[in-house]
Amino acid sequence: MSQAVALGLGLRPAFYADAAQGRLAVDWFELISENFMVDGGNPLRVLDAVAERYPVALHGVSLNLGGSDALDADYLDRLDQLARRVAPMHISDHLCWTRHGGHHLHDLLPLPYTDEVVRHVAQRIRKVQDRLGQRILIENVSSYAEFAHSTMREWEFLAAVSEAADCHILLDLNNILVSAHNHGFDPLHYLAAVPAQRVRQIHLAGHSISGPLRIDTHDHPVSDPVWNLYASALRRFGPVPSMIERDERIPPLEELLAELDQARRIGAQELAA
Ligand SMILES: [Fe+2]
Repeated sequence: MSQAVALGLGLRPAFYADAAQGRLAVDWFELISENFMVDGGNPLRVLDAVAERYPVALHGVSLNLGGSDALDADYLDRLDQLARRVAPMHISDHLCWTRHGGHHLHDLLPLPYTDEVVRHVAQRIRKVQDRLGQRILIENVSSYAEFAHSTMREWEFLAAVSEAADCHILLDLNNILVSAHNHGFDPLHYLAAVPAQRVRQIHLAGHSISGPLRIDTHDHPVSDPVWNLYASALRRFGPVPSMIERDERIPPLEELLAELDQARRIGAQELAA
């Protein structure tokens, strides 16, 4: 008897009301941490109601784990407060940099893949984990350009950082496919190099195509290549909690639930095998 995958959805304002009343047949929700770092009002009412009815994961975009600005102590305090409020199943952010010289760049920017950067990011992740009293998950981002002085490939960098920081991994399969297309590598090669025991969550999302590039826009249904990669990921990593991450052009909820059904079918098939 195989273990089922816990299937979640990124919580978006379009279905705050349904989620707050427990009307959605999903196993868990992922919440964008920054949306709930407020002192009161409707976001906190939604947060409490959803967390009372479903397991939740916190997903942030502002930790700036790869940057060289000092870690934002105020942000960490607010994240810690949020975590104490909802006791999340996971806290995650991205393996990237988002800020420099005090300026938010509003993008998840890739890092040079070198030993020096592995050490730099790992010590920052360790500080975050010490502050929060738990391991965090780092997510692989998609990229459209690479640094000429990188000395390793992205999957080696992800593995090295997670080992050096002793953190977990949120694997975004769409980001792997987007980067594989843009940089010309085999996504299965990437999967094979990820330390399996560290993978604790999977993102499934769609992307758009712009000329020669694939862009990680989260505004399309999950694509067939992502579903194929998902089957391979489940075979390699087992029943890792997985979710649909849709940020733009949010379709009717039924379409997202149908995508979760597809994930469920793939899970049943691959885990039984
Ligand atoms: Fe993602």
